[in-house]
Amino acid sequence: MKAKTEKGVQDVKAVWFEDGRVVMIDQRKLPGRLEFVSFDNYPDVAESIRNMTTRGAPSIGATAAYGMCLAALNGDDLDRAAKDIKAARPTAYDLFYAVDYMVRALGENTDPVEAADSYAQIIIDKCLAIGRYGEPLIKDGAKVMTHCNAGALATVDVGTALAPIRAAHDKGKNIFVYVSETRPRLQGMQLTSWELLQEGIDHAIMPDGASGHFLREGVDLIILGADRIAANGDFANKIGTFEKAVLAKELGVPFYVAAPISTFDFNTPRGEDIKIEYRSEEEMTQISGVRIAPEGARALNPSFDMTPAGYVTGFITEKGILAPNEIRRVLG
Ligand code: MRU
Repeated sequence: MKAKTEKGVQDVKAVWFEDGRVVMIDQRKLPGRLEFVSFDNYPDVAESIRNMTTRGAPSIGATAAYGMCLAALNGDDLDRAAKDIKAARPTAYDLFYAVDYMVRALGENTDPVEAADSYAQIIIDKCLAIGRYGEPLIKDGAKVMTHCNAGALATVDVGTALAPIRAAHDKGKNIFVYVSETRPRLQGMQLTSWELLQEGIDHAIMPDGASGHFLREGVDLIILGADRIAANGDFANKIGTFEKAVLAKELGVPFYVAAPISTFDFNTPRGEDIKIEYRSEEEMTQISGVRIAPEGARALNPSFDMTPAGYVTGFITEKGILAPNEIRRVLG
């Protein structure tokens, strides 16, 4: 992705490996500051996933792969490292997929850096394919709605939901993107909008509660990402996704989920079996460390929700656009 840095506009990735360290954009500092942090041991990498320095399922997966790479380079117990890294967050399937990928690769004596670098590159290549398959869905003049961040920050580079949007923009299509703010961590407002600005893609941030209003006014399609897709096509994504899906069906707006195969969990038969992460009450009751809720008020903070497959028009994957009932046959 292009980003304005101290050295001018540069190509940057969300996470990579350099000089024995895992380097990543500190996503908690965006959009105010583009800062990089680096780690030389796997417990710190696991913590960077837990505390959301890095976010988005495929980026979490790549970060986990680099964590396993550090564990191997440092001579740590790999079973322990795999367990600790998998415990960082519960919902994004890429985390588990990536750790298992690295356990296999390291078991075959693949060089740890080569294995993790190739994992990250595979994700980028899949995102490029998602962009190619999804781009024709976006016509010239289209209005597209998205939620949370499913851009380059969330996927090492390129993005899943943002890949078709970038590809349509690169083809010279005139498009407009509705970006929902994504309370409480504001991934839409702070990350997706930042990415679209870097690329010069026309968009506006809207309150999460404005989806119905704008969908009725005329949105051509919704494209968003996923954190885990069950074998039957039910999927978990950022809280607020389900209501967008229901509204889209009610109003006849096509609803697409863009995700690589690493997000499909064929061991989980149905969406009800996906573990939904609950995060702290403070994420809801405070803004920048200042309490905004009444003292004594409790808050509930599910980070994700589950949308049944019946609401999905299609999954945009690196193997093409698939209906929910095709995913097991094509990807499984
Ligand atoms: O809690 P986060 O910021 O890790 O959640 C991110 C999302 O829910 C994304 O929409 C999802 O991971 C898809 S990313 C390509």
